[in-house]
Amino acid sequence: MSVKEIFETMDYGDAPESAAEALRWLVDGGDRFGLFIGGKMTEPGAVFEAKNPATGEVLAHLTQATKADVDAAVTAARKAQSKWAKDGKARAKVLYALARLVQKHARLFAVLETLDNGKPIRESRDIDVALVARHFYYHAGMAQLMEAELPGREALGVCGQIIPWNFPLLMLAWKVAPAIAMGNTVVLKPAEYTSLTALLFAQICQEAGVPKGVVNIVTGDGAVGEMIVTHPGVDKIAFTGSTAVGRRIREATAGSGKSLTLELGGKSPYIVFEDADIDSAIEGLVDAIFFNQGQVCCAGSRLLVQEGIADDFHKRLVARMAKLRIGNPLDKCIDVGAIVDPVQLERIETLVAKGSGEGTVHQPVSAPEGCFYPPTLVSGLEPASLLMQEEIFGPVLVSTTFRTPAEAVEVANNTRYGLAASVWTENVNLALDIAPKLVAGVVWVNGANMFDAAAGFGGVRESGFGREGGWEGLMAYTKPKGKATPVKPAKAHVKPDDIEVLGLDRTAKLYIGGKQARPDGGYSQAIYSPKGKLLGHSSIASRKDIRNAVEAAQNAKGWAKATAHNRAQVLYFIGENLSARADEFASRIRDLTGTTEAKAQAEVTEAIDTLFTYAAWCDKLDGAVKPVPMRGVALAMNEPVGVIGAFCDDRPLAGLIEVVAPAIAMGNRVIAVASEAYPLAATDFYQVLDTSDVPAGVVNILTGPHTELAKTMAGHMDVEAVWSFSSTDISGVIEKESTGNLKRTWVNNGMSRSYPARDWLAQATEVKTIWVPYGE
Ligand code: NAI
Repeated sequence: MSVKEIFETMDYGDAPESAAEALRWLVDGGDRFGLFIGGKMTEPGAVFEAKNPATGEVLAHLTQATKADVDAAVTAARKAQSKWAKDGKARAKVLYALARLVQKHARLFAVLETLDNGKPIRESRDIDVALVARHFYYHAGMAQLMEAELPGREALGVCGQIIPWNFPLLMLAWKVAPAIAMGNTVVLKPAEYTSLTALLFAQICQEAGVPKGVVNIVTGDGAVGEMIVTHPGVDKIAFTGSTAVGRRIREATAGSGKSLTLELGGKSPYIVFEDADIDSAIEGLVDAIFFNQGQVCCAGSRLLVQEGIADDFHKRLVARMAKLRIGNPLDKCIDVGAIVDPVQLERIETLVAKGSGEGTVHQPVSAPEGCFYPPTLVSGLEPASLLMQEEIFGPVLVSTTFRTPAEAVEVANNTRYGLAASVWTENVNLALDIAPKLVAGVVWVNGANMFDAAAGFGGVRESGFGREGGWEGLMAYTKPKGKATPVKPAKAHVKPDDIEVLGLDRTAKLYIGGKQARPDGGYSQAIYSPKGKLLGHSSIASRKDIRNAVEAAQNAKGWAKATAHNRAQVLYFIGENLSARADEFASRIRDLTGTTEAKAQAEVTEAIDTLFTYAAWCDKLDGAVKPVPMRGVALAMNEPVGVIGAFCDDRPLAGLIEVVAPAIAMGNRVIAVASEAYPLAATDFYQVLDTSDVPAGVVNILTGPHTELAKTMAGHMDVEAVWSFSSTDISGVIEKESTGNLKRTWVNNGMSRSYPARDWLAQATEVKTIWVPYGE
C-alpha cells in the first residue's frame, strides 16, 4: 500500500513485532524442553507440542512429566525449604533480582507469551509483563518485612501450584512471588497450552540465584496437575482455573490436611447507570470483555444497562466494536488476538450457538481464518438464560437491562459466581451504595480489569476462596508458628449401673432462631457425670434441625448491617451476663467433665475474656487503603462471610464461645454444634443469649452427633463456611461435602493448635477490594 493510499483510507498499516529473538531462544533450547527440577533442566521425556494458536505452527516440544518427575520435584522442594525459610532479607534480594531480570528480558517474555498464547503483543508487553515485574518487586518487600510485620507466622512448606493458560506468566508470578517470599518452596505446573514463558522463567531463576529446589517447574496436562494435588509431600495447593477442576481438587484434597486456595471462574456484571459517562463506560467495557479475547476470569462478561439508555448504549457499543482490529497478535495495532487453542474456540462457538437463540447477536467485525473469534454482543437475554449464567471465556458479551438500582443489584447477584463487578455512574453516592451490596471479591468503580500486587484479588461463592495480593494474600502462604498436637477425644460417660437422679428434670432443647426448639426427630440422649449422676438429656439434632437453623440464620441478615459499635455492645453484654452466672457455669463444667473447681472457673474466665476480646475487635479490624500505582485507590473492606457452621471442641463452654465470639463480632450468623460429649453447658448458654440483646437467628446452637450433622452442614448451599474443632474425625467429610457451593472450610484435621485472634478474624471475614477513582 502506498503512502498516498494509506492517507486516503486512513487504515492502519501492519506493525508486527519481530519474533526472531523468541524463536532463537526456542532453537537454543534445542526445541525439546525438559523440566526444571532442583535448579536444573532435566533431559526431555515423552513430549507434547506447544503451538502458536494464531498460525497453528509448532513452537517446541515439551515434556509430559511422570510420577517420578513430580516425586523428584517435591523432594527437591522439600530439601530446600527449611534453609530458604530462615532468612527473609536474603529472600528479598532474590525476589528483587527476579523483578529486575523480568524487566531486563521484558521484550523476550512478551513476544514469547504472545507466540504461545495468542494474546495481542500490546497486552503482553504493557500489561502482563509489567504486572509480573511489579509482583516480584512488591513481594521482595514482603520478604524483607515478614519478620517485623508478620510476627509469629511461618511458611507452610511445599506448595503445589497449578495455573491456567490465560495469563501464563502473570499467574506464575501471582503464585510464585508470595509463596517464596514467605519462605515456601514451590512445584508449579503451567497449563499445557502455554508453558513456554514458565520455562524462560526457570532460566532467570538460575540467573537470579534462586537456590536449587526453591522453584520447580513441571510441564504436562491435567494428569500432572492431579499428581501434584494428591502428592503426600505437598502442604498446600494453589489453583487457578475452571470451577469444574477446582471442585475436583477440593474433593481430592479433602481430609488430607493440605491447605487450599481456589481462584475459579466468574460471570462478572458490568453495571451501567443512566448517569454514567457513556463514552468512558464503553471504553471500559471494551477493556472488560475484549481484553485477552475475553479469556479472563473476571471479565465483565454480563452487561447490565439501565433501561433508559440501553438502546443508545448498545448502538454506540456496536459502533465501537466495529472499530476493533482482530488478527495477528504480534501486530502492535491489534486489539483482539487468537483464541488459545482450537478446543477453546469450539467451546465458545458451541455455547454461543446453543444459547443465543432468544437474543440478538451482533458481530460487526469478522474474524480471520484460523483460531479467531470475532468480538460479539448478544443482547436482549433474560437473566436466567444460558449465556447469562455460563462462563463463556471468549470475546462474547451478553446483555440485559434493569430499571432501578435495587434491580441492578438483584440481577448482578443472580449468579453462582462472585468474582468481580464494575459499577459505572457519575453519582458517588450511588456507586458507594451499590459496591457493598454486590456479592463479589473485587468491585471496580468506573473502571474494569485493574490489578495490582498490593490489592487483594479473589472471589466468593463458586468463584473460589482465598485472596492473592496484598497482606491478605499472605495469610494463604503462612501459618502461625508452633506445633499442633493431636486432638484428645473427650470421654463420654457411660450409663452407670445405678443411675443417680438429681433434682427436677430440666429439658435442654436446641436453640434455633432465638427460641428453644424440640429436636425434629424427637430423640434425646442421657448425659452422665463421670461419677454416674444423670445430669440431664440433650437433644439429638437431625438434618431437618440443621435446615431450620440455616433458615433462621439466613433470616438474620440484618446482623451484618448492625454497626460495629452495636455488635461490640452485644458481645460485651453477653460477657457481662455470663459473668453474673459464672459459678453456675463452673459447676456445670465440673459436673460434665469431672475437672477441678479451679479449672472449671478458669474455663469460664477464659470464655468471658474471649467475649471481651472480640467485643473489642468489632470496631478495630480496620480495612486498608492500598496505594495502587494508578489514578485511584483500592479499599480493602472486611466483610462478614455470611452463615458459618461451627463444630466445637470439648471444652464445654470455652469451645463454644471460641467459635461464636469471632464469628458474630464480624457480622456473621453462626450455627454452633456443641461438644458431642459435654453438650449441657452450651444448652445452659441459651439463657445468657436470651438476656443479652442478641437478635434471633444470629446464634443458633445444636447438640447431636457431629459426623451426621457435619455432612448436612457442609453440603448445605446456604451455608457460606464451615469450621471444625471437633474431636470427632469430621474434617474430611466437611471438605468433601463443601464442594457443592465451594464454601470455605477451616478444619482441624485431628490436630489441635491455638490460633491468634488475627486468624479467627481472617476466617470470619472476606476481603472485598473496591477500586475507586481518587485524586488526579
Ligand atoms: P482447566 O481448569 O482444565 O485448566 C487449568 C489448569 O488445571 C491447567 O494447568 C490444567 O492442566 C490443570 N488441570 C486440569 N485438570 C486437572 C486436575 N484434574 N487436577 C489438577 N490440575 C488439573 O481449564 P481448561 O480446560 O483449560 O479450560 C476450560 C474452561 O475453564 C474454560 O473454557 C474456561 O471457562 C475455564 N477457565 C477459567 C479460568 C479462570 O481463570 N477462571 C482459567 C482457565 C480456564
